Amino acid sequence: MDRIKITGGAKLEGVIPISGAKNAALPLMIASLLTDETLTLENVPRLADVRQLFHILENHGVDHAVQGKRNGMDDLAGQTVSLTARAIVDTRAPYDLVSKMRASFWVIGPLLARMHEADVSLPGGCAIGTRPVDFFLEGLRALGADIEIERGYCLARAKGGLVGNRISFPRVSVGATHVMMMAATLAKGETVIENAAREPEIVDVAECLIAMGAKIEGHGSSTIYIQGVPRLHGARHRVAPDRIEAGTYAMATAMAGGDVTLDGATPQHLEHPIELLRQAGAEIDITNRGIRVRRNGHGIHAVDADTAPYPGFPTDLQAQFMALMTAGKGTSHITETIFENRFMHVQELARLGAKITLDGQKATVEGVERLQGAEVMATDLRASVSLVIAGLAAEGDTEVSRIYHLDRGFEHLEQKLSRCGAQIERISD
Ligand code: EPZ
Repeated sequence: MDRIKITGGAKLEGVIPISGAKNAALPLMIASLLTDETLTLENVPRLADVRQLFHILENHGVDHAVQGKRNGMDDLAGQTVSLTARAIVDTRAPYDLVSKMRASFWVIGPLLARMHEADVSLPGGCAIGTRPVDFFLEGLRALGADIEIERGYCLARAKGGLVGNRISFPRVSVGATHVMMMAATLAKGETVIENAAREPEIVDVAECLIAMGAKIEGHGSSTIYIQGVPRLHGARHRVAPDRIEAGTYAMATAMAGGDVTLDGATPQHLEHPIELLRQAGAEIDITNRGIRVRRNGHGIHAVDADTAPYPGFPTDLQAQFMALMTAGKGTSHITETIFENRFMHVQELARLGAKITLDGQKATVEGVERLQGAEVMATDLRASVSLVIAGLAAEGDTEVSRIYHLDRGFEHLEQKLSRCGAQIERISD
């Protein structure tokens, strides 16, 4: 298995190109199931999760083509992918595929909407939580679907198609909002989604669906209105930049020190993390290329953070921010409100000398003078990158194992950091 070795102490100087958002690309690819015409997506990141989703979609009969390299194209640029679900030949999403990438469960919405049936394996939990899908099932039942759970599968039927309705989620769910929005585009009549997720990825998917002929309003707010249409057509759409990747490299720069421009980042999607980083002592400027992050000389101040649905502080940046706070002057309190087990990185950060105590969903981080490099293990996607961030500033070498977690969500991570001066390399055993 591959691992990553980092020798701490180097500042980061230069430009990091920000890739297309993983959490937009995945639902956008799934949206291709809603039409028999071609959906072309630009700026798709080269990630393990994207490759896994191709397998899921192939199983339904979706053809896909990836555009080859063009003259002058930077090898870190995103890829252009065309997806065509001319005919959906199989409405079953099997356990062996869904269990490898849980967002593939989201195919249930478009399959029901277009084919009026779907047999989709329950995704199961993961390292950060049980990840139930009760909101999805209640929402689809509200649109007229009959859903039975049998031997780990959701057997969903909607004879005559889905019918619009009003749905109100008990708590904000990004996945359930994506699925209900996609399903409602082909339902008869109007669907209203209340307490909808407001994440930029929801907005990106809604804009793509509108380009495909869907009638959607209110996306980005807590209430989304969808008027069903008989069919959707093909479109071309550019995947929005990855705010979590951008926030991650902003925290890496604050940790290592230096001066980095996050090229293509969207500052308005990172207002809360930018505010916290400024309080922590990073200088952050908005430029016409994106976001410029600097920290030279002075140390990092301890700052508190509570995760929350967008536009609050994103749970997907919680581990990265905690890594930064391990080097802060003072004590930081970090509360995780979205997932029940998203502190797996704590015991690994402790191996690097971090002083962190846990009390339920609250972590108390006492800053230390300097972390000490060590061998550590990645446990989930965002936890793994928090160990890389810590390793950038630790004394000596840090080796992060099980980095297949990293490859799920960070494209060309070593290249992007080493181009800015980090001493980082991938070691293949
Ligand atoms: C999406 O996951 C993201 N994944 C996650 O990113 C992200 O952390 C999460 O949203 C929150 O922002 C993708 O977009 C592919 P939720 P999702 O439904 O949709 C509970 C990453 O690192 N819930 O918003 O699965 C759930 O257990 C990943 O890129 C129910 O109880 O998250 C959680 O506690 C990790 N019942 C809370 O809601 C349901 O039916 C929010 O989860 C659905 C969710």
